Amino acid sequence: MITITTIAELDSAINETKKNNKSIGLVPTMGALHEGHLSLVNRARKENDVVVVSVFVNPIQFNNKEDLEKYPRTLEKDLAMLEAAGTDIAFTPSVEEMYPEPVTTVYHFGAIEQVMEGPRRPGHFSGVAVVVRRLFELTKPDRSYFGEKDFQQIAVIRELLRQMNSNIEMVPCPIVRANDGLALSSRNMRLSPEARNIAPAIYATLMQAVEMSQYEDVDDLKLWVLDTLASFHEVNSLPEGLRFEPEYFEIVDDTTLQPIDNWDEASGSVGCIAVWLDGVRLIDMVRFRG
Ligand code: PAF
Repeated sequence: MITITTIAELDSAINETKKNNKSIGLVPTMGALHEGHLSLVNRARKENDVVVVSVFVNPIQFNNKEDLEKYPRTLEKDLAMLEAAGTDIAFTPSVEEMYPEPVTTVYHFGAIEQVMEGPRRPGHFSGVAVVVRRLFELTKPDRSYFGEKDFQQIAVIRELLRQMNSNIEMVPCPIVRANDGLALSSRNMRLSPEARNIAPAIYATLMQAVEMSQYEDVDDLKLWVLDTLASFHEVNSLPEGLRFEPEYFEIVDDTTLQPIDNWDEASGSVGCIAVWLDGVRLIDMVRFRG
């Protein structure tokens, strides 16, 4: 594996790869890697000649300064994991290298960004689009791999590729979970041991909701999920500090991301949730239909 920090070096490595007609798989990450990221690298490894993984904490996609400051950074460990997983090129640029000038580009994605994460994290998806587009242009991948935990991000990147008129193949990959069901996330490492212990209740609640969706209507089910998590500490006599604070739970069409009112409205539907626990914002999703 070679580790590259500058665009000039990356350019020559990519040009060399292209000259030799080798296919490129890109896995964009913000580091603090876990098995979820490695599943993307493994998939990219199987489907491409050369695997490029970027590790870059993208400041312009954080709408909260504290979240950016607290975002875990574990570069040395990340590089060891990437090497062991068979990565060819790790691209780890500085902020100055990626953004030599202030970023003024703003992306709009219409209705798909006007729900769930969009209104709650103003500028987030535009910031994601700026960095992903830059990474696409720099690494010229045939395929790029994204985790389904960030379900809305996948829809946004699909739309970005459409706007770019690009034929890069976007490959969505399933969520990887800990044995107790918690979706793996770099943010999990910020949970206290007590909070980490109860965090699997998020997925357990979602799984129960999937079962209940056989007989419950959409609105009642949404309320049930929100209430179950919001009252979890009370029901289990836990201290206030171990309180789940759901930010949203939406049941949406899996293509348009628009909330549905009844199950027949969409051939595919998913439930997406954001919950605060112990000062950490966790997201997760499950599929209901399709
Ligand atoms: O999903 C992430 O980790 C980030 O949003 C991404 C795609 C690497 C862009 O910074």
